[in-house]
Amino acid sequence: EPFVFDHDCREGICGMCSLYINGHPHGPNTGATTCQLYMRKFNDGDVITVEPWRSAAFPIIKDCMVDRGAFDKIMQAGGYVSVRTGQAQDANAILISKEAADEAMDCATCIGCGACVAACKNGSAMLFVSSKVSQFALLPQGRPEAAKRAKAMVMKMEELGFGNCTNTRACEAECPKHESISNIARLNREFIKAKLAD
Ligand code: FES
Repeated sequence: EPFVFDHDCREGICGMCSLYINGHPHGPNTGATTCQLYMRKFNDGDVITVEPWRSAAFPIIKDCMVDRGAFDKIMQAGGYVSVRTGQAQDANAILISKEAADEAMDCATCIGCGACVAACKNGSAMLFVSSKVSQFALLPQGRPEAAKRAKAMVMKMEELGFGNCTNTRACEAECPKHESISNIARLNREFIKAKLAD
């Protein structure tokens, strides 16, 4: 039987290749996924230790393949915008500043690979959830559902057994897309605002 592990795009954009290599999610490279880690990074005779993602919320299916369906459930809880997209000209009806668009795009580069969870000693998914909440919260189209979204996604994250954030920043250090923990601060603000509004 072949050894089982996940992969899909091999271009660093799908987030499927979830391997813990030599003590790091996605291996020793920074800003790169497992599929972008090449054997030339290692020396002849090196011992390479490969493990599955380490998180109770990502149960192992087989060998190095884990079930990351928990992230899908968090997205289903609120990671969307409920608007009619309409025609092309309608898309331009709400103007977005370049600054907001750039910032939202930085958050949207999170590929949902789960490295943040695997890196965190608490198994927290806060970097993932905050990046996804931020990518919508920063845009005017995402504001109408911002409070509902922050509450729903945080509640789902807690329900699925992810740990709490204690600001160790391991997630930020290991994220292949360099997501910033300032997203977590934004999520906390969004969540508190939503609770106060309640
Ligand atoms: S296989 Fe898609 S990110 Fe690695």
